[in-house]
Amino acid sequence: MAFIDLPPLSNAAGTVKLPGSKSISNRMLLLAALAEGATEIHDLLDSDDTRVMLTALASLGIGLEAKGQNCWRVRGAGGVFPVKQGELFMGNAGTAIRPLTAVLALSGGHYRLSGVARMHERPIGDLVDGLRQIGCDVRYAGNAGFPPLEIFPAQLRPAAPIKVRGDVSSQFLTALLMALPLTGETTVVELTTELISKPYIEITLNLMARFGVTVERDGWRRFTIPAKQRYRSPGRLHVEGDASAASYFLAAGAIGGGPVRVEGVGRHSIQGDVKFADALETLGARIVWGENWIEASAPASGGPLGRLRAFDLDLNHIPDAAMTLAVAALFADGRCTLRNIGSWRVKETDRIAAMATELRKLGATVEEGADWLAVLPAPSLIPNVAIATYDDHRIAMCFSLVALGGVPVRILEPGCVAKTFPDYFDVFARIAAPVIAIDGPSASGKGTVAQRVAKALGFHFLDSGALYRLTALAALKADVSLDDEVGVAAIAATLPVEFRDDRIFLSGEDVTEAIRRETIGNGASKIAAFPAVRAALLDRQRAFRRFPGLVADGRDMGSVVFPDAPVKVFLTASAQTRGERRYKQLIEKGMPDNMRPLLQDIVRDLEDRDARDAARPVAPLKQLPDADLVDTTSLNIDQAVAAVMDSVRRRLPFINPPVV
Ligand code: DC
Repeated sequence: MAFIDLPPLSNAAGTVKLPGSKSISNRMLLLAALAEGATEIHDLLDSDDTRVMLTALASLGIGLEAKGQNCWRVRGAGGVFPVKQGELFMGNAGTAIRPLTAVLALSGGHYRLSGVARMHERPIGDLVDGLRQIGCDVRYAGNAGFPPLEIFPAQLRPAAPIKVRGDVSSQFLTALLMALPLTGETTVVELTTELISKPYIEITLNLMARFGVTVERDGWRRFTIPAKQRYRSPGRLHVEGDASAASYFLAAGAIGGGPVRVEGVGRHSIQGDVKFADALETLGARIVWGENWIEASAPASGGPLGRLRAFDLDLNHIPDAAMTLAVAALFADGRCTLRNIGSWRVKETDRIAAMATELRKLGATVEEGADWLAVLPAPSLIPNVAIATYDDHRIAMCFSLVALGGVPVRILEPGCVAKTFPDYFDVFARIAAPVIAIDGPSASGKGTVAQRVAKALGFHFLDSGALYRLTALAALKADVSLDDEVGVAAIAATLPVEFRDDRIFLSGEDVTEAIRRETIGNGASKIAAFPAVRAALLDRQRAFRRFPGLVADGRDMGSVVFPDAPVKVFLTASAQTRGERRYKQLIEKGMPDNMRPLLQDIVRDLEDRDARDAARPVAPLKQLPDADLVDTTSLNIDQAVAAVMDSVRRRLPFINPPVV
């Protein structure tokens, strides 16, 4: 995909389950590979950078077994890698090439490491210098100081303290710390310059400890690894959610109203980037911490699009999440300064230069220094800007927040998010794509109206009633009784349904007409009263929420499925009118007189069905206080569509819906 166009957005709310942390995933994989025993790693991140690590480990002779979704069993080598020769491609994964270089330098083999062009511009000289001090034989195969590298067996020398710089990338220290226990000797690493990104070293030490290796730390200057320590598998491990990825959603909550909750990180996270939530709080956002979640909402005074407070912060401890603050600065009430972010210059791209360029396109006045960035936001954002992403996943993700300023924005080459978060834009849509929820009783015309509104706006369309009808039909076909809640819920959970070109397919069979039969409608109404069935269909319905937006019709679109929908409409008509419409439909469909039910029977049926839908304890049919009432008793379809569009225009002023 060359680009993704994000529509103007007005609010963000909901819950996001975070993908696994990249930093933790790649460290755990490597430690598990070096450990004695097998390690089962759960919730591993599935992305480009972790695939680089998995592929490398497999080619180095490590047994890897996929155990279901995002779970891997790693059979540790109990020391260095068994394969003594290899060419390894590292893509642009810094978290793979740095520690692997250090471990391979101690593995007694001959290896070549290379990556994409940008990887060959990212410094690694300080790490190589450190390794050479203890007798490792690492050579530059291209430019001195950068990959590609060629590694030969080391002639280990008794260790004087290894001296290494701390101010270019903390990954050099991480790489040395993870590899040095392989020497079996007491080793000492001393930093010659101030250490940056300290929280990443904390992650390294924490994970090494879980594999049974302790490091004695003297401040942030000197690290001692006592002799004769071996990595031992702790058995089963779980990867925390990615705290850097959490920053986009938390910022979305702060800018777009919220609350937005991220699940997978919380109060006890070992990732430094959770401190992003504290930074966001100094901007005025309301933050709530849970054990395994964090929630963010807009400042109390601001309301949805309310301004955030200007800031001047040292962000050395959260270099990745800090990029999100640079975009949040567009929504602040004054000049914002991000300090001590020099490491941005050597990341996926020169992030200081790239952020400055893209922020300026949106109208901000930006100044940059060697290790700082200052952003003075313009009173309003420039719409329809095309954001270049420099093959940098974080630039693509953080600039998606611009749309929450109510302006359309284009993100170029959005596929770069695959580095750490392949389905980022789908997940972002699930909290930010506008939903127009149209609820109401049977035969109120809401299906037709909702479909017309969706077409006019170019939005996706969800006929949720069809899912209940499909479930009833599938249950009948499978001979499952409609009284069997558990059995029907199991069918709902695995419904093989496909919506294609206005037709509906069940296991490949076109059932568009079949599900409209009265018996199926009555069956749907019956099974819709089962909580287990409703729960089974919940995620399936929410998955329809995609950019540029969704029109969803049903009974509980506004109350349960999309409670944060910015537009809610309750569409109804008197039972008599609805009965007459249905009666007319039957005549139009050519149903012969002798088969046609009497009008009064149809009306009574509708009243019964309404009563059942309204009286059930779960998700009863009712008009919500925040829904606009559209009574179509004396309206034709065009007038009903126009009434809904009025609602849309009032509640989503940015959308500019066409007049119909
Ligand atoms: O809108 P419809 O007639 O196609 O819906 C069929 C049945 O499904 C209806 O009796 C109520 C139920 N339903 C529901 O409970 N919740 C929804 N969101 C949609 C439909």
